[in-house]
Amino acid sequence: MDDRPLSLQEMLRRALTSQVELGMGEVILPPRSASTIETELDQHMVAATESQRIVPVADIFGEERPLGPQEPQFASLDRHFDSVQNCQECPLGATRNKFVYGAGNPNADLLFIGEAPGADEDRIGEPFVGRAGQLLDKILAAIKLSREEVYIANILKCRPPGNRDPQPAEMEKCFPLLREQVALIAPKLICALGRIAAQALLKTTTPLGKLRGRWHEYEGVPMLVTYHPAALLRFQAYKKDTWADMQMLRAKYDELVG
Ligand code: URA
Ligand code: URA
Repeated sequence: MDDRPLSLQEMLRRALTSQVELGMGEVILPPRSASTIETELDQHMVAATESQRIVPVADIFGEERPLGPQEPQFASLDRHFDSVQNCQECPLGATRNKFVYGAGNPNADLLFIGEAPGADEDRIGEPFVGRAGQLLDKILAAIKLSREEVYIANILKCRPPGNRDPQPAEMEKCFPLLREQVALIAPKLICALGRIAAQALLKTTTPLGKLRGRWHEYEGVPMLVTYHPAALLRFQAYKKDTWADMQMLRAKYDELVG
């Protein structure tokens, strides 16, 4: 775990990210003030807001991207992993430590899709092993599932430096890897964790707050959208909605998987 104190700019960036990720249409800025410290704060806020503008994820894949389920191109997840683990298709290939392909049951009925590896995942090479991952384990346990039963993957396989948001070009390059994982695993249910995953999978700019708690479809597979566990770590209040989402997920799992 990374326990270094956060810079003011990083704290503000995270606060703004949280606002965006909780589905707020506009970020909230503090009132202006003449004092030096607050002027500095304002400057950081402007910088943070600039870098935090919502990316129109819907536009990045283009309309030509084939929709609907695809046939797997590889014989197995292991073969696929072997062929992509040294990927240098985008600049993150140069800065990553470990390529974080995904983990879990290759025949899982339920697939969780997060955003991108963080520092812990980048170090270990597995998805969701840091604080957010530990919370995901608890969420799974609460609906009587384990990490070994499900499969866990991310939109990006490599860590964006400093945990910045994935860039459209990175997501576009990486997306075929996830599509192949979906084709190979052939899950009966998908759960998208957080705004980035939900918007990328659904090709929409609709705020997370309006996407969560409902069934959607990804390539013919029923998909539920819920909050990212990292958001829950910052906003306890969203645990209630997440719990409702998880009960929906478990009910559908019982219906389709038994
Ligand atoms: N957050 C994610 O979205 N994915 C991970 O693997 C870890 C943290
Ligand atoms: N950052 C996250 O960790 N999750 C989101 O959904 C959006 C941004």
